[in-house]
Amino acid sequence: MLPIEVVSLKKCYGDIRAVDDISFTVKQGEVFGLLGPNGAGKTTTIEILEGLRAKDEGQVKVLGLDPWKDGYELHKKIGVIPQEFTFFEKITPKEAIQYYADLFKVKVDPDAILKEVLLEDSAKVYFDSLSGGQKQKTGLALSLVNSPELLFLDEPTTGLDPNARRAIWEVIRGLKAKGKTIILTTHYLDEAQQLSDRVAIMNHGKIVAMGTSEEIIKQHGSGERLEIHGTEKLANYIKENTELQVDYNRSRGEIVIPLKQKIDALAALAAAEQSGMDWGEIQTRQDSLDDVFVKLVSYGVNEQGEIIGDNEVKPAVSKRRR
Ligand SMILES: Nc1ncnc2c1ncn2[C@@H]1O[C@H](COP(=O)(O)OP(=O)(O)OP(=O)(O)O)[C@@H](O)[C@H]1O
Ligand SMILES: [Mg+2]
Repeated sequence: MLPIEVVSLKKCYGDIRAVDDISFTVKQGEVFGLLGPNGAGKTTTIEILEGLRAKDEGQVKVLGLDPWKDGYELHKKIGVIPQEFTFFEKITPKEAIQYYADLFKVKVDPDAILKEVLLEDSAKVYFDSLSGGQKQKTGLALSLVNSPELLFLDEPTTGLDPNARRAIWEVIRGLKAKGKTIILTTHYLDEAQQLSDRVAIMNHGKIVAMGTSEEIIKQHGSGERLEIHGTEKLANYIKENTELQVDYNRSRGEIVIPLKQKIDALAALAAAEQSGMDWGEIQTRQDSLDDVFVKLVSYGVNEQGEIIGDNEVKPAVSKRRR
């Protein structure tokens, strides 16, 4: 049995199609990253899976249960950190864990949980005096009280400094090593790439790409390219004097040459040198998940999975060849 199975899930709020016919599965022990811009439908999806919101259409199974109908049963088996997690002000992490344990009617060792989330040092500090990172760790601690096999973490690192984010990553990695299945939403693509086995990118309620980061980059990225900081005139010169495809990005003042083979870079640079014109920094690069994300959510994809719409990288004007 897969921990999560979603088929053709839909949810509208009035005219807003918050979740618009999405399907995905999550495997046992997997960290699954749900990405997308603000309003893409991530929290709505997660809250339907948690049994906190009702779906409109589609099938959803979480740990073999229907989250809406079997919520009581499900809540014993899952851990949740809601987006923008907060708690009573005058309670310490240790007391909060005990409070949750009483609610769940389970026996816990609060110190062991605090250790698991790297929060031992702040066990007795009031919640309102904890740093942002320590508050999120408290949320993680509370999500672990019932020893869940499946965790939903909705933006667990938003607003944290780089060190605090890394501390949360360490906790998440520890939980993964223990075999927990984790659904994670984040706006930090580096984080998604580092932590997730697979990601789904949502936009306007739809999943526009899904797979490992490498698969998504391979499918939607534009491959290796040479970038030369220079003028459009130089771009046209290179285009007219080589057999290469040469694009020009006006906003960045950059000549962009997709490299079918590495030797193409040599031909481009030889032409640039021969032009007698000046150019600045040169580099070769490949798309990161970040680049692909920006393309996917800015331009959309067609049914074949190809990126469509108005790309900011335009072909250089001249189509003439010598
Ligand atoms: N309770 C609600 N009533 C009406 N509209 C809602 C409600 N909850 C969410 N929405 C709308 O549904 C869409 C999806 O929202 P959702 O919170 O799922 O997005 P998200 O991907 O989690 O965004 P963010 O990254 O900002 O957290 C948005 O347009 C939002 O305004
Ligand atoms: Mg959200």
